[in-house]
Amino acid sequence: MKVKSILVFGAKDHIGSAVARYVYKHAPGVRLKVATHSSENLPQLKAMFPHAEPVVADFFDLNSLIAALDGIEGVFQISPDFFNEDNLVQNLAQACRQTGSVKHIIRILGTPPGADFSMIPEVLKIYRYGPAMQHLVAKENYQRAGLPVTFINVAGYYMDDFTRMFIQPIINDRAIRIAFDRTLAWIDPTDVAHVAAELLLKEPNGYFGKLIDVTGQDLCKLSEAAQLFTEVLGVEIRYDGDETRFFNAIQPVFSEKWGADTPEYFMNYFKWEMQHDHLFELTPHVKNILGRNPKAFNSWIHEHRDYFLPPIKVLPAA
Ligand SMILES: NC(=O)c1ccc[n+]([C@@H]2O[C@H](COP(=O)([O-])OP(=O)(O)OC[C@H]3O[C@@H](n4cnc5c(N)ncnc54)[C@H](OP(=O)(O)O)[C@@H]3O)[C@@H](O)[C@H]2O)c1
Repeated sequence: MKVKSILVFGAKDHIGSAVARYVYKHAPGVRLKVATHSSENLPQLKAMFPHAEPVVADFFDLNSLIAALDGIEGVFQISPDFFNEDNLVQNLAQACRQTGSVKHIIRILGTPPGADFSMIPEVLKIYRYGPAMQHLVAKENYQRAGLPVTFINVAGYYMDDFTRMFIQPIINDRAIRIAFDRTLAWIDPTDVAHVAAELLLKEPNGYFGKLIDVTGQDLCKLSEAAQLFTEVLGVEIRYDGDETRFFNAIQPVFSEKWGADTPEYFMNYFKWEMQHDHLFELTPHVKNILGRNPKAFNSWIHEHRDYFLPPIKVLPAA
């Protein structure tokens, strides 16, 4: 079911923005609304997407969802970490019922492939809206609500985690400092976005209503990722898996973003993920849907080398 109008949530950020750009480039005739939950971000959206309609749509504000979904057939939906997925799906379902035009929703998930509620230990289960549980909760809610949804499960980590939450030790200490040396699949977030947009625009056969695990073309441990950084950047990037140093590094950042309990939560989450890292495996969906290979990790590192090795500024001669 191709759609003639699309609403993109999270449109100012790394995945939503790439969805909106892809839609405009490949289907300029599709009506495009770009959403943010805060009116403060509207000027940014207007500047980023002069051809689209910027809207304020908050998953916790039913009226804003009803207004944003007016006349919309396709929806791209992504949630932040630690998010109340019960309220979200309840409100979205209600807004879809009231507006009546939505034909297809793409929802981004993030769990190890094949994970289910029975695999989540109590120490993580008590946080219903933490990353271990929230996507399982969202998926169950979507299915119960009978919404026309296709799930894209990001079955690994975004490569740009290294230019976002894990960058400081690379710059300051030339180290990838992430405890629990586990095997993960790595994907360029732009590839995730392009798959989402393509499923909304063209809907290749056999994907509607399914859950697909998407990955790039690299599956490796964090220590092996450090070797890859070393090869590509031409300077040694060590792997540092020390748990205490890692905890001390994430503690201030995660506490401020998600609350005081969350550094410990993530230590438990990463440990659990390591116990299940045999579940991560490469999948062919990016190539099958986009007709090209997903971005390789070494190319991605090369393209982003200035983040890790900021160019030396040469002062003009006095
Ligand atoms: N990091 C990884 O390696 C990884 C791996 C697999 C899966 N994942 C999953 O990927 C997802 C995206 O993670 P991310 O950190 O990259 O997020 P992100 O790009 O920041 O996307 C989340 C979006 O939610 C929007 N938002 C926030 N509050 C909202 C509200 N009340 N109503 C409507 N929209 C709201 C934000 O935009 P506005 O503030 O403009 O509204 C933001 O763009 C998460 O669900 C995560 O679990 C992550």
